[in-house]
Amino acid sequence: MKIYLDNAATTPLDPEVFEVMTPYLLQHYGNPSSHHAHGREAKRAIEQARNTIAGLINADPSEIIFTGGGTEADNTALLSAGERRVITTPLEHHAVLHALHNPHYLSVNTKGEIDLAELELLLSDGEPSFVSIMHANNEIGVINDIEAIGELCERYGAIFHSDTVQTIGHYHHDVQKLKVHYLACSAHKFHGPKGVGFLYCRKGSNLSQLLRGGSQERKLRAGTENIAGIVGLAKALEVAYRDLDKHQLYIQKLKNRLIAKLQQIPGVTFNGASAKDNSLYTVLSVNFTATGTNLLKLLDENNISVSGGSACSTGSASHVLRAIKSDPDKDTVRFSFSKFNTIEQIARTVEILYRHFNVINQKTDLVESI
Ligand SMILES: Cc1ncc(COP(=O)(O)O)c(C=O)c1O
Repeated sequence: MKIYLDNAATTPLDPEVFEVMTPYLLQHYGNPSSHHAHGREAKRAIEQARNTIAGLINADPSEIIFTGGGTEADNTALLSAGERRVITTPLEHHAVLHALHNPHYLSVNTKGEIDLAELELLLSDGEPSFVSIMHANNEIGVINDIEAIGELCERYGAIFHSDTVQTIGHYHHDVQKLKVHYLACSAHKFHGPKGVGFLYCRKGSNLSQLLRGGSQERKLRAGTENIAGIVGLAKALEVAYRDLDKHQLYIQKLKNRLIAKLQQIPGVTFNGASAKDNSLYTVLSVNFTATGTNLLKLLDENNISVSGGSACSTGSASHVLRAIKSDPDKDTVRFSFSKFNTIEQIARTVEILYRHFNVINQKTDLVESI
């Protein structure tokens, strides 16, 4: 049995999504900029996908700009900051951090939480500001209150971008309620295809062109559109929101089970708010007492795919773990879950770890139904 517990890195494509994509690879392959039947067919598919996505986040279709994924959406939003001072956090994904020059970093506590009073104090100095704060962190799962951050930004006239790559498709977003100017989305984080996403850009907001060339996406993003990807993105979001409550509950139960079982291993702690309520239900970041064995390798040898902080390996602390002052002498493993995981997979993972850490299991059967 091959077990995939690295769903914050990417998720498997949903067969329902694959099904709607294939006709756009095999039959309806026209270029949407072409003025003939094939082109019009492709163009229609894009606009239909745009309408579907806009409807799901309560946006106007003109506010959805298709991109080549989350990184491009983040980069485009940040480019649009212009000369404004950028305020961000040290826990952002590199898609944000590496696109910034000399931003102002808010401080974070050991749980990975920011202090809204600190943000307010900064904004109140009147300097034109662009705030980029992620909705939820991909490594430790901590969730920021983007509703409250948006309110603050509005009060002080700041522009607000949120990297929602780990939350769109996992939580509902209503852009009529959120005081946000930009949101970034990536399809492969919710069982859609890789290399496609969108930037939500509120009407009237500045939007700089990252890619220059043709006049696609109303001259905002050049390059022939990834039709099958865009169709898959819209379908993936539709499927995600269709059964969201059910999947949230199921995945949270898988996570809770793993937390409960791992707590029986001496020395185990959880990073940030990872095992608490203010955390993604899809992510659990765990610190194990170092034994000299590379845990990622051990799990990999047992056909269990997990990751360290992010793409890094156990032992070399990521920028996120460093920022929350996580103990560098511990081995960190990030487990991340999806609707395709099962309780048997959790049990098998626990079994491997119990064996390694010599935990005598009280219950003979690790698989209790949830
Ligand atoms: C929080 C966050 N932002 C941005 C990205 C980048 O998205 P993509 O892989 O679609 O470029 C990721 C994915 O790794 C992410 O987790």
